[in-house]
Amino acid sequence: MKKRVAIFISGGGSNMVRLVEDMADPNHAAEPVLVLANSAEASGLAKAKSMGVPVVSVDHRPFKGDRRAFEAALQAELDKVSPDILCLAGFMRVLTEGFVAPWEGKMLNIHPSLLPKYKGLHTHARALEAGDADHGCTVHMVTPLLDDGPILGQARIPVQQGDTPDTLAARVLTQEHRLYPACLRRFAAGDTTRVDL
Ligand code: GRF
Repeated sequence: MKKRVAIFISGGGSNMVRLVEDMADPNHAAEPVLVLANSAEASGLAKAKSMGVPVVSVDHRPFKGDRRAFEAALQAELDKVSPDILCLAGFMRVLTEGFVAPWEGKMLNIHPSLLPKYKGLHTHARALEAGDADHGCTVHMVTPLLDDGPILGQARIPVQQGDTPDTLAARVLTQEHRLYPACLRRFAAGDTTRVDL
């Protein structure tokens, strides 16, 4: 039986597209069963639909900051498809311990820095400000602490002369598209050996 994967997005979903493309391989141990966005305007939803993956949106705004109620609505959508694995792919809502705890060991996230450096936002600008020689991205298991769980893989790139946050973000995103599918493929097969690109 293939592992059932749900993917949470907030925007364009380029990482989601790479995960779904990779799971099209019959030898992959997992299959996508849902793409969920926290806004109906997320352009990644149309991409997922065109790839034949069921989609749904649960807008966080009507909940007016009531995280528990928003997360209950998220969980209700997940319960309809019973996923084994949950992938956060550019999902920009911070999830509380109440939502994360039952998913611990089954939820992955991609973060655009070499964790534990630069948890949170604006990772590319912070790496440049610090004068770092290299930068990159990380796939990690999600725990209640933000951007903190066990690392499944990292991809490292050199920071180049003249880099701006945008040029750095673009090169890191290219690595994200290699790293996340590689980590999910291994994780779904029960292998948590670290991936280093
Ligand atoms: C990626 O850089 C991801 O690391 C970050 O948000 C961006 C989303 O990209 N959390 P996409 O929606 O997957 O294209």
